[in-house]
Amino acid sequence: MTSKADTLLLFGATGDLSQRMLLPSLCALHADGLLDPKLQILGTARSQMTDAEFRNFARAAVEKFLPKQRRGGMADFLNRLHYQQLDVTQADGYADLATKLAGRTERLAIFLSTAPKLFEPTIRGLEKAGLAGEGARIGLEKPLGLDLASSCEINDAVAIAFPENRIFRIDHYLGKETVQNLLALRFANVMFEPLWNATHIDHVQITVAETVGVEQRAEFYDQTGALRDMVQNHMLQLLSLVAMEPPTHMEAEAVRDEKVKVLRALRPLAAGESVTGQYRAGAVDGKIVPGYDEELGRDSQTETFVALKAHVDNWRWKGVPFYLRTGKRLPERVTEILVQFRPVPHLIFSGTRAKPNALLIGIQPEENITLSLMAKVPGLDREGMSLREVPLDIDMPDAFSGKERRIAYERLILDLIDCDQTLFVRRDEVEAQWAWVDAIREQWAKEGLEPKPYSAGSWGPSAAIALAERDGVSWHE
Ligand code: BG6
Repeated sequence: MTSKADTLLLFGATGDLSQRMLLPSLCALHADGLLDPKLQILGTARSQMTDAEFRNFARAAVEKFLPKQRRGGMADFLNRLHYQQLDVTQADGYADLATKLAGRTERLAIFLSTAPKLFEPTIRGLEKAGLAGEGARIGLEKPLGLDLASSCEINDAVAIAFPENRIFRIDHYLGKETVQNLLALRFANVMFEPLWNATHIDHVQITVAETVGVEQRAEFYDQTGALRDMVQNHMLQLLSLVAMEPPTHMEAEAVRDEKVKVLRALRPLAAGESVTGQYRAGAVDGKIVPGYDEELGRDSQTETFVALKAHVDNWRWKGVPFYLRTGKRLPERVTEILVQFRPVPHLIFSGTRAKPNALLIGIQPEENITLSLMAKVPGLDREGMSLREVPLDIDMPDAFSGKERRIAYERLILDLIDCDQTLFVRRDEVEAQWAWVDAIREQWAKEGLEPKPYSAGSWGPSAAIALAERDGVSWHE
């Protein structure tokens, strides 16, 4: 394994992700004493800046995006930061970068938060300047391509200089505590695993709903759409964590071997197993908001909502649908997974109904796990026992009060520095995700499927409700 990095080289250091997530995460890690005192951070971007100007820039970003109580030792944090102007497409600039790094080129953690079309020139430049040696590892931010072919091109370009065990493909959902907790829930408890299969589970629902629209990202988003922006990466990662076999241990290859088997077992969708939508003007959180086409300034066929009925074709999941839905401008921001169990095989109580158990895993904003159970309604039961569903509820922040709720990138940056790939996506996973998603898009093109309009603030087009209801399933709301 490559040793801990002593320098973090951040490309796209003045970009949006850097301001909103990366600099605040680094500052929070520093405040908690989690960065090695010797770690230096070198930011690069196209604009000219001195170290002092970059530090001011970083201070403003941290003050805007990190709560005050997490900003301890800000002055010392800022002293770790340095800056080197670089146009990554100009080969001659990399020598200056290497000079600026003087003596710190052996144990580099490189983070590319730039457009993927810049990855190839960046990798070539790094290699030529001697910055891609054995002690260097590289983190890649999404989007990693727009389809399988373009993703392979990016992966091939990176592979010129970095072997797979030094490539860290980021899916920030894997940095979320609650997503990692899925592994703990499944594999550190004995009671779920025996039931975690087609014999006992009726279906699974995964919802990633957002209230935001596309706003300033409209042009980028229009090239992408909900399927590629959310399903291809975050939702398929969630699905694979729910569906995977137990890995032998919590180690990068063991975990990723199991995830990729699930991704490869995804059945191509049949006609009628997907619904797409695009929001129109409406109201979200009591505020009137414009439609997608108004934000974009023209008509478009890009979906801002998608609902799918997926299947994992293996023994464990035979016949168990995985309903996935995600969209912008939905009524609430919620990411959750519902595992719906089957009914008891024989109900001994007459004159009453037992609702099948369900396990609801709240990823965000609420972090709770609720198991719904049937219980006896207190009473003398002169006409037989009556039953009612009651929740067995674990509020995670409550259960772990006093523990810091961290930004997903804090964990991911630290793992990049430490060279631990467990929470990063391997090439074969990304490619299996793209292969499945490409087939869906091909089918949409073949069927001439157009996104159905839905009002901002609703749960998407009614066809999405019908997709589940046809099977007697209601989306959890
Ligand atoms: C990003 C998508 O990957 O994830 C965005 O590009 C989306 O469109 C975001 O808003 C959602 O992330 P989170 O952590 O807010 O759920």
